[in-house]
Amino acid sequence: MNAAAHKVRSVGEQPLPLSGEKGALLLFDVGQAGVLEPAHLNLTRTAVDDPPPRAKASHPSSSHSSRTACPRYGRRATVRRVAGRPPHRDSRPMTAVTIPRPVAGDVVDLILDDHRLFEQLLRDLRDATADREGTRAALSAALIAHGEAEEQDVYPALRRKDAIDKHEQEHGEEEHAEGNQALLDLLECKGTDTQKFDDAVEKLSEALMHHIGEEEQTILNPARTEVSEKVRQDLGTAWASRRNALLDQDCGSIEFVKKVVARAEKDGLLSSDDES
Ligand SMILES: [Fe+2]
Ligand SMILES: [Fe+2]
Repeated sequence: MNAAAHKVRSVGEQPLPLSGEKGALLLFDVGQAGVLEPAHLNLTRTAVDDPPPRAKASHPSSSHSSRTACPRYGRRATVRRVAGRPPHRDSRPMTAVTIPRPVAGDVVDLILDDHRLFEQLLRDLRDATADREGTRAALSAALIAHGEAEEQDVYPALRRKDAIDKHEQEHGEEEHAEGNQALLDLLECKGTDTQKFDDAVEKLSEALMHHIGEEEQTILNPARTEVSEKVRQDLGTAWASRRNALLDQDCGSIEFVKKVVARAEKDGLLSSDDES
């Protein structure tokens, strides 16, 4: 067992021990009447704030770098779905997927935990017996909060430390924009049992898996080697704080995602192929 296996992360107000890479972080509460109820998913349907403006001045072009094949990961996901009922048994919303809400830690570890969460949620979106509605809502919120916090807090700080260069920062933002466009297409699917939904899941999966692979190699590796542990801890606190604040703003709602995508288009981060 490595050191990560002994870490304790908080989910909402509840400390949750991780069991190495096999910890079950997606929880479901059973209410008094035996109905599955949301536990800690803080996605209240309140006023939707505008996404924050991008910190940097401009993007001189929207050209995209040529891509290489996505790296494969040998690690197992840190989360797994532990409860749920097949959708044909009941038409009521069945489960809510809890998004872990850490408040501190090494930013590299925190980001990696979210990447493994994304992989698990994508698998659940492909599973016809899973709570696809709940999973889609959770992935939307987690993905927007994660990427926005990276752009606002992590990328600029790593740039100031010369751990990453301008191209790596802008390319990461372009890939976030592509993923957010694919996410919006998925959110706009009316049902979850259609070919259109399956196609949208695969398009999002392709964009997201490419991005997290590249980010782990070209951004998280310099963060591991070029900045101090103190900086990574400070960045972890900043990233988690912004991520949690965005989750509190219902950042996974279709209205919020539309605003994020519109901002990306305005900033020239989306090529014409991505806007169709
Ligand atoms: Fe990331
Ligand atoms: Fe990212």
